[in-house]
Amino acid sequence: MSKDYLKIIQQSQVPSHVAIIMDGNGRWAKKHGKDRIEGHKAGVESVRNAVKASIECGVKYLTLYAFSTENWNRPKEEVDALMELLVFAIETEVSELNKNNIKLTTIGDIKQLPEKCYQSLINSIELLKNNTQLTLILALNYSSKWEITHACKLIAQKVKDGFLEPENITPQIIEQHLNTANIPDPELIIRTSGEYRISNFLLWQAAYTEFYFTPIYWPEFTKEEFYKAIMDFQKRERRFGKTSEQIQSEHK
Ligand code: FPP
Repeated sequence: MSKDYLKIIQQSQVPSHVAIIMDGNGRWAKKHGKDRIEGHKAGVESVRNAVKASIECGVKYLTLYAFSTENWNRPKEEVDALMELLVFAIETEVSELNKNNIKLTTIGDIKQLPEKCYQSLINSIELLKNNTQLTLILALNYSSKWEITHACKLIAQKVKDGFLEPENITPQIIEQHLNTANIPDPELIIRTSGEYRISNFLLWQAAYTEFYFTPIYWPEFTKEEFYKAIMDFQKRERRFGKTSEQIQSEHK
């Protein structure tokens, strides 16, 4: 079934960077009479599916919103269980990631994560750093407002120290100080579970991103669902502020 979708996808038009707001684990668990953490555990299988599908169709960067700065406000037991799950998932998957030539990186303030989680991430990032097939970017303790504020502080310090003049601050300078420096902006952001929000995710980077919303809860998000999002993306006309006529004449 997923092979049929793969045949329809135009290889030349696959987005190089796809980002996903993985939502609906809690509601999926409730629907099945399970604890919320069971929903997160089931969500790990969908993470595997999204990674496999990205590789199969040629996506080069996959960003997953795994834990936002706002998620600390959840009940302590859920936060603790999520952190444990994260360590467990990273440690059990790292050799598979390596076998598949996948590089791992993070965005967000990971130093504030529990020590075990932080160390596990640092070790895996180091082990996988030379891989080239796909870059898997985990957004952890991430929020866009935090990231932009952090970039402002770094830039302000450079101005204060005399390394940069205020009139030389450009969008490119700001981008170089974001966590996503050297990562292309996402062409496609997917959000599951029927919510239509961006929730403090990649606000700067999403200036020209296409959005795909699906009512499917994250634990139900299969490779086929991923391919459907890619196919929907391929029907869009990306104009970047230009007219439709200009875009069509550029493609002649
Ligand atoms: C949103 O569902 C999901 C999260 C905040 C956590 C996502 C984490 C995982 C899928 C597990 C591990 C991840 C990796 C990268 C190995 P929700 O709890 O907000 O669902 P709800 O809106 O239905 O309550």
